[in-house]
Amino acid sequence: MCKFKLFIIALILNTMPLVLWSQANTLILNADLTADTISRHIYGNFSEHLGHCIYGGVWVGENSPIPNTRGIRNDVVAALKRLNIPNLRWPGGCFADEYHWMDGIGPRDKRPKMINTHWGGVVEDNSFGTHEFLDLCEQVGTEPYICGNLGSGSVEEMSKWVEYITFDGQSPMSELRKQNGREKPWKVKFWGVGNENWGCGGNMTAEFYADQYKRYATYTRNYGNNVLFKVAGGPNTDDYHWTETLMDNVPLHMMNGVSLHYYTVPNSWQKKGSSTQFTEDEYFTTIRKTLYMEELVTRHAAVMDQYDPQKRVGLIVDEWGTWYDVEPGTNPGFLFQQNTLRDALVAGINLNIFNNHCDRVKGANIAQMVNVLQAIIFTEGEKMVLTPTYYVFEMYKVHQDAALIPLTFKSPDYVLQGKAIPAVTASASRDKSGKIHVTFTNADPHQEIEINIEIRGAQAGKVTGTLLSARDLSAHNSFENAGTIKTVPWNNLKPNKNILTVKLPASSVSMLEIN
Ligand code: AHR
Repeated sequence: MCKFKLFIIALILNTMPLVLWSQANTLILNADLTADTISRHIYGNFSEHLGHCIYGGVWVGENSPIPNTRGIRNDVVAALKRLNIPNLRWPGGCFADEYHWMDGIGPRDKRPKMINTHWGGVVEDNSFGTHEFLDLCEQVGTEPYICGNLGSGSVEEMSKWVEYITFDGQSPMSELRKQNGREKPWKVKFWGVGNENWGCGGNMTAEFYADQYKRYATYTRNYGNNVLFKVAGGPNTDDYHWTETLMDNVPLHMMNGVSLHYYTVPNSWQKKGSSTQFTEDEYFTTIRKTLYMEELVTRHAAVMDQYDPQKRVGLIVDEWGTWYDVEPGTNPGFLFQQNTLRDALVAGINLNIFNNHCDRVKGANIAQMVNVLQAIIFTEGEKMVLTPTYYVFEMYKVHQDAALIPLTFKSPDYVLQGKAIPAVTASASRDKSGKIHVTFTNADPHQEIEINIEIRGAQAGKVTGTLLSARDLSAHNSFENAGTIKTVPWNNLKPNKNILTVKLPASSVSMLEIN
């Protein structure tokens, strides 16, 4: 071969890596430019008196053959402990604005029964009340987030609930608590002042609610060093007027958070779609609709910025997740749906969005914890199974209270029938020990996506990772096959100087740890 040909071949071989490199997607990780802290409370859960979330899912009663501690399932508590759940919202939801807390204290056999009108019209026997919920929180090691009844309750009722739980001195409510077996008060910081008051919580206008909020917030007091973090019932989805009205009418010192509710519903509210039987088109729409959370938090935050540039008031997304048609043959009022790889992607995308907006998003609660909507755990009798969404929470817990690392990244598109959405989302943080964690979602079900992570401001040492994926988008765990979809180690991750090249498998959620 002549020297000239050899020279040309050498030139091509030399430039090839460069060409490939420039074609791959680059993500710049500015490891030394950390700013805001990702509040651990973004990883909160929600447990409503709905279907088998509380009854069967958490509470089985002291006489149950299912192993329990004071009536609370041991298996569920152990699974929740693994996630470091930072807070747990209770008792609703719509149920909260019908709940009268005094019905749920004292000897269980004397507690009145009520109808759970919102959720299946079943009898609520109030056997799980304030003491049982706070016991659950203590067993799990999580902070309670109690939602008070503004819709059908009274200022006095809510005020007395706070006194009953948190007052350490002598008062009618603290004496009642002691009579019921609890000498010392509990610590409860997070307090919701009503729920969805634009809908099931009273069908109020924003203006009327803002005034009501001030009345209720005035009489929910701080006792001793129990300082309440009061969350005002916020907007539905894109109701920016609601957010604006609250911010304009409620003095900033009277509220710590404004809630936001947004559910990912693939089709319409009338015909939402099946949790397991879905086409790629429905999958694409689900991902597109869940990505809408980015716009929602950005726009609500922009409204809040006008009134609260110091970001004193947090946006608390205290209900989010998928909402499908119930599983065939189950009670329509119990909202039981399966949980697949699609749900794992929804969870990973939303959590990445919340992390990246942690300057304003100070809390979030997936709906719901056990057996309802996008559950992280299913139970049936004595059996328990962890869903793909559970594994996402397990992977992402590394971000809790870590410092957000800003990313520079433009996702390639996932294209279906001429429509395009971003295929990849990511967020990154640096924990207190200096470890960097990056979480990714790749929603494209056909393409593995290569990313060159350029680490600036830190030296990359050992890299490990975890992956969640499956061939089938509807892959899910069942009581018979509990391990169909779960996390696996992500191997062969070796940085080349400050560049780490990774391949995100098609339809996957993943986490990298860079030492
Ligand atoms: O999570 C189920 C319901 O959805 C809640 O009770 C309500 O707040 C929302 O509409």
